[in-house]
Amino acid sequence: GSGALWGGRFGGGPAAALAALSKSTQFDWRLAPQDIAGSKAHANVLHRAGLLTDDELAGMLDGLNRLAADVASGAFTPAPGDEDVHTALERGLIERVGPDLGGKLRAGRSRNDQIATMLRMYLRDAARTIAGQVLDVVEALAGHADTHLGVAMPGRTHLQHAQPVLLSHHLLVHAWALLRDVERLRDWDRRTDASPYGSGALAGSSLGLDPEYVAGELGFSAAVENSIDGTASRDFAAEAAFVLAMVGVDASRLAEEIILWATKEFSFVELDDAWATGSSIMPQKKNPDVAELARGKAGRLVGNLSGLLTTLKALPLAYNRDLQEDKEPVFDSVDTLTVLLPAFAGMVATLRFNTERLEELAPQGFSLATDVAEWLVRHGVPFREAHEISGACVRLCEQRGIELWDLSDEDLAGVSPRLTPDVRTVLSVPGALASRSAKGGTAPDRVREQLAAVRHEVASA
Ligand code: ARG
Repeated sequence: GSGALWGGRFGGGPAAALAALSKSTQFDWRLAPQDIAGSKAHANVLHRAGLLTDDELAGMLDGLNRLAADVASGAFTPAPGDEDVHTALERGLIERVGPDLGGKLRAGRSRNDQIATMLRMYLRDAARTIAGQVLDVVEALAGHADTHLGVAMPGRTHLQHAQPVLLSHHLLVHAWALLRDVERLRDWDRRTDASPYGSGALAGSSLGLDPEYVAGELGFSAAVENSIDGTASRDFAAEAAFVLAMVGVDASRLAEEIILWATKEFSFVELDDAWATGSSIMPQKKNPDVAELARGKAGRLVGNLSGLLTTLKALPLAYNRDLQEDKEPVFDSVDTLTVLLPAFAGMVATLRFNTERLEELAPQGFSLATDVAEWLVRHGVPFREAHEISGACVRLCEQRGIELWDLSDEDLAGVSPRLTPDVRTVLSVPGALASRSAKGGTAPDRVREQLAAVRHEVASA
């Protein structure tokens, strides 16, 4: 026959164009280690059900081990005629143990339950690797937050100066977002920790095979509760694509800031030479390509998620061949992040902050106007009126091209009799920072506690 797993009822082999369309080894071959692990577990349940003798089991496991070694070394690869990873590996097993023994392994399983299980196993491994890489970025951020504790910067809303904040407070925002992504990966793993192996084509395992035993062999806590669900559901893949997209989107927000901060106009950071690129024509250039690629790849990660969701939308139960389209998007998301994150962590870890510039700009743009209003409130002025008075100060400063602290005693009294010279005590960045001392605020003591909390999360992740 053609080597296909389904030749019996057909008069001839498939049309060449169909075979070309149907073929998936170019992307599913990476699941070969998982597929072989599944086959070994399956051989064991066949033996436990009395369908393989002791000798047959030993021969089968030996053949599968030799096949695994040949796959790992590259000595065995898919042939042009192999439809998918399962077809190629069955051929490889039969080449090693002969058709009589090799032909027994397919009993009581289907590629439908195999592929659903293999993809879960692969993604669970990949998620652990990616979680570790995300934590490296978090550690780089925590390192800077620690080194620069006490350094003020302009906090912004609408990209306009708003209130001074600690640089550490700002950097830890990105750390918290990425820590939540790590938590999402862990949480996703709990839901993905169920094995579809034994679901068969859709209706469940026959031949007295035990899905719970296979589940345990493959690192799952249990077998799925519903065999149709086991073969037809891909929400685990879509959810993985979401979390990986979220990692990319969270990284892109930090990336965008680094791109802005590295401009001449901001001059908040300088990139390390090893983590920046030059221009082929402009000799002076030092470009933030790592950050730009992080920003750009976020789009690709979101595209993978939306493509996969679109494939799943309205797909009837149970297995449909459309589901073969589940793999490339999630593989691409995994590949994208496993290449991006180490570079991103390296770039972040080696940033040099221009702390003088950050501190100099922190109080500019009237970022202490809220402190003036709150000083008035503490002196009994209703906030509505305090807001007006402080706003009038800003207007006067803008007209004169000066900052709030340049206003004379007479200027202040002219705006409002409530503004005594004592208001200048709050026109300082350290004062403004220290006053935001409630939980979650930017006061140095709170940020120190926050940093300890981030480090605790990293250590326990
Ligand atoms: N290559 C298929 C996939 O990736 C495996 C399952 C094929 N099953 C089938 N009945 N054609 O989804």
